[in-house]
Amino acid sequence: MCVTKTDFFPALRYRALNPLYDLVAALTTRERAFKKRLLVQAAIEPGCDVLDLGCGTGTLTFAVKRHQNDAHVVGLDGDPAILEIARRKQRQHRLDVEFTDGLSYALPFAAETFDRALCSLLLHHMPPRSKAKTLVEIRRVLRPGGQLHIADWGAATGPLTRAMFAPVQKLDGKANTIDHVDGRLPNYLTEAGFERVEIQRDYFTVFGILSLFSCRKRSVSQAS
Ligand SMILES: C[S@@+](CC[C@H](N)C(=O)[O-])C[C@H]1O[C@@H](n2cnc3c(N)ncnc32)[C@H](O)[C@@H]1O
Repeated sequence: MCVTKTDFFPALRYRALNPLYDLVAALTTRERAFKKRLLVQAAIEPGCDVLDLGCGTGTLTFAVKRHQNDAHVVGLDGDPAILEIARRKQRQHRLDVEFTDGLSYALPFAAETFDRALCSLLLHHMPPRSKAKTLVEIRRVLRPGGQLHIADWGAATGPLTRAMFAPVQKLDGKANTIDHVDGRLPNYLTEAGFERVEIQRDYFTVFGILSLFSCRKRSVSQAS
C-alpha cells in the first residue's frame, strides 16, 4: 500500500494556524471532558508504555503522565512545527514525556512496544488508505492484549449533527471525513484486526458528534 506525505494534514490544515490550535480545540470539541474520559477508559496502569499518536501540542500526552506518573509516555506527530509547541509546553510543565517526529502510517517503533495507544482527533485527517495503514501500524506496535483508545468525529445522529459537521469536512476534506460522519470507523478497526471494538461514549459538540472508541489486539501473539 502506497502512502505519501501528501496525505498529511496539519492540525488546523495550515501550519501557520498551529499556535491557535489549543484555543480552537478547547472552544469547539469539549476537549477537557472527552480527554478526561478517554484516560479513564484507557485504564493506564503503572509501568505501561503509552503512545499518543498525532499528539499535536501535547495536551493529551501531558494528561496521561499526570494521570499515571509511572507510565512511560511517547507523543508522536508528523508536524515538527507543532512538536515545537509541545516541547515548549513540556519545558513549562517539567513533565517526563518523550516527543517524536513521525508518521502514523510508518511508525518508527519495533513491533510490540506499547501497552496502550491513544489517538485523539487524528484519523479524520487522513484518506481511507492512510487510516487503514495507520491502524495496521498501531496493531503492530501494540503488545498482545494491548488497547487502542480513539477520540474522533463519529456517526451523525441525524440531519442536524451532519450539517454541524460541515465546517470540519470543509477544513479537513470530505474524503478524509466522510467515513466518520457515516459511522464507518468501527469497520476500519475490525478490518485492521482489532477485537472488542466498541463505541464507549458520544459527545454533542458544536461540530456534531465526537465519539470515544475502544478496541484491543488479541492476547495471543499474532503475525502482523
Ligand atoms: C487535530 S490535531 C489533534 C492533536 C491532539 N491529538 C489533540 O487531540 O488535541 C491532529 C494532529 O495530527 C497530526 N497528524 C496528522 N496526520 C498525521 C500523520 N499521518 N501522522 C502523524 N501525525 C499526523 C497533525 O500534525 C496534528 O498535530
